[in-house]
Amino acid sequence: MDYKLRECSLNDLEFILNLKTLGMKWYIEKIYGWDYEIQKQLTLNELNKNLKDMKIIVVDGQDVGITTFSENNDYYEVGLIVVHPDYQNKGIASSILREYIKIATNNKKRIIIKTYKENPAQKLYARLGFNVYKIDETHIYLEIIFN
Ligand SMILES: CC(C)(COP(=O)(O)OP(=O)(O)OC[C@H]1O[C@@H](n2cnc3c(N)ncnc32)[C@H](O)[C@@H]1OP(=O)(O)O)[C@@H](O)C(=O)NCCC(=O)NCCS
Repeated sequence: MDYKLRECSLNDLEFILNLKTLGMKWYIEKIYGWDYEIQKQLTLNELNKNLKDMKIIVVDGQDVGITTFSENNDYYEVGLIVVHPDYQNKGIASSILREYIKIATNNKKRIIIKTYKENPAQKLYARLGFNVYKIDETHIYLEIIFN
C-alpha cells in the first residue's frame, strides 16, 4: 500500500493519543496501568522533545499512523511505530522499517527497536532481520548490526 510520511506537529497530539489508545493501551495497561491524562502528558513531552524525528503516516490524504526514527552517535532507534487498525496488515510498517534498515545499512550503524514481550509485532521485526539482544521483565530489545 502506498503511503507518505509528513512532518509531525503539536496539533497531532489528539491523533497520536487516539492511535496509542487503539494500538498500545492493551499493553501499557498491563505494564504501567493506563491513565489517559498521564499518557497525554507523556505524549506531549515526547512531541516537545522529539518532534523532528516523529512522522505521521499518510495514505490517500488520510493520517493513518505515527513513526519515530532517531539517529544517535553510533546507532539508529525506531522509537514508535503505530498503524491505525483499519490500515494494519497491509505492509505499511514493513515498508517503513525496511527504509529505516536501508538507512542504517548505508551508514553502517546499528539499528534498535524494543517492544512489549507479548506484542506480536516482534514477529514482524524478526522477519525483517532484527535479532534479540536483551530481554527484561517487560520488554524485548532487538537489533540489526552491520559490522
Ligand atoms: C505493529 C504494527 C505497527 C504493524 O503495522 P502493519 O502495517 O500492520 O504491519 P505489516 O502489515 O507490515 O506487517 C504485519 C505484521 O504485523 C504484526 N501485527 C499484526 N497485527 C498486529 C497488532 N495488532 N499488534 C502488533 N503487531 C501486529 C504481525 O507480526 C504481522 O505479521 P503476521 O502477518 O505474520 O502476523 C501494527 O500492528 C500496530 O500499530 N500495532 C499496534 C501498536 C504496536 O504494537 N506498535 C509496535 C510497538 S513496538
